[in-house]
Amino acid sequence: MNIILGVSGGIAAYKAVLVVRALSERGHTVRVVPTANALRFVGAPTWEALTGRRVTAEVFENVADVEHVALGRWADVIAVVPATADLIARAAAGRADDLLTATLLTSRAPVLMAPAMHTEMWQHPATVANVALLTSRGVRIVPPDDGRLTGPDSGPGRLPDPQVIVSEILACAAGVQSSRRSRSDTAEVVGEFRPLTGRTVVISAGGTREALDPVRYLGNRSSGRQGFALAEVAARLGAEVSLVAANTTLPVPEGVRLTEVVSTAELHTQMVSHARNADVVVMAAAVADFRPAAPEPHKIKKGADGAVAPLQLIENPDILAELAGRRRRPQQVVVGFAAETGDHAGSVLQLAQAKARRKGADLLVVNDVSNGQVFGSGDNAVTLLDGRGVPLGTVSGSKTEVAEAVWATVIELLGGPDHEPAG
Ligand code: C5P
Repeated sequence: MNIILGVSGGIAAYKAVLVVRALSERGHTVRVVPTANALRFVGAPTWEALTGRRVTAEVFENVADVEHVALGRWADVIAVVPATADLIARAAAGRADDLLTATLLTSRAPVLMAPAMHTEMWQHPATVANVALLTSRGVRIVPPDDGRLTGPDSGPGRLPDPQVIVSEILACAAGVQSSRRSRSDTAEVVGEFRPLTGRTVVISAGGTREALDPVRYLGNRSSGRQGFALAEVAARLGAEVSLVAANTTLPVPEGVRLTEVVSTAELHTQMVSHARNADVVVMAAAVADFRPAAPEPHKIKKGADGAVAPLQLIENPDILAELAGRRRRPQQVVVGFAAETGDHAGSVLQLAQAKARRKGADLLVVNDVSNGQVFGSGDNAVTLLDGRGVPLGTVSGSKTEVAEAVWATVIELLGGPDHEPAG
């Protein structure tokens, strides 16, 4: 098997030497790609002697060979041992500022990272969010051991023994190659990092329907896909997930508890009830702002003269504003969605910023639906706003990728030592 061993700049780099040797002894071909800082701990001559190949950290050496692309294609698996907080941050951001990060971007091989750093860095919300993002993209994380770190201190952050890492690398490669191995088997072998473990989340999805009579309703075009993707990713990251779905036909993601509702009143009751035990509340459902004042008990008939009775509407409760305004649990994070088209009163962003402040959620995920392109489609493009309407970034891609970005931000909010609900 062709293995790239990425090495980033931490004291644990010396253990990567033993990993290279053990993999070579098992007959695998290893190429080492260090970062510039890694070479301060273990120099290029050591890696070259061990692997019999030239070693560099630079993209701009051997430019004619387009080495990062060649390496990325050559690898059957890439393992980064140790992975520092900085390397993890750069990989999560999709940076390509050295040979290792550029290779990670070009390769489609399975990737494993074995983080090693001081406990404070490992537990910092930024690292937690970066690791969550990488995990949700399929990177296998070998969690660090608890033990003695550089200097006299100790805690979680220590690189596991080289033998453990070798078997994790082989399991990572096998987990992807074997179609018979399920995700959860692989997770068990590799010990995936699941930052939402112990967290309870409730997500609303779909679109509510308000009865006009026993056969007709007022509804909307929401398919529920974004909410289902949020539920699937949260479950994958370890959360206990309840999904309150209004009028959807999508398959329920593994490990997710489904409650089905039809109207806004039903959705309201379910969300208030689930929010009592939730660390995170996500309102991804498209909720009807109004409902018929008096739905007819019998099918409405056309009048003899073709006359149409006027429709009286009354306002529905704003569930998001209510849940954000009165948190059911301390430190609860509340997330809302907004589909905007922009109008004479302002651009999509201006309207969304005003909405973020009005609703009081911690995070507002804004869709530009000017051309109706979002409903029912697999893709999405969103801007994330904080509770004060400040843009945190934009994400475009599949609804799963958008969900991953939303959870990475929520994990950061949950981990923040002074998170105070905005409402
Ligand atoms: O005001 P608007 O409908 O654009 O707000 C969208 C956000 O508010 C979504 O998160 C939606 O789930 C939520 N919402 C709600 N109750 C309503 C209307 C919208 O919770 N009655």
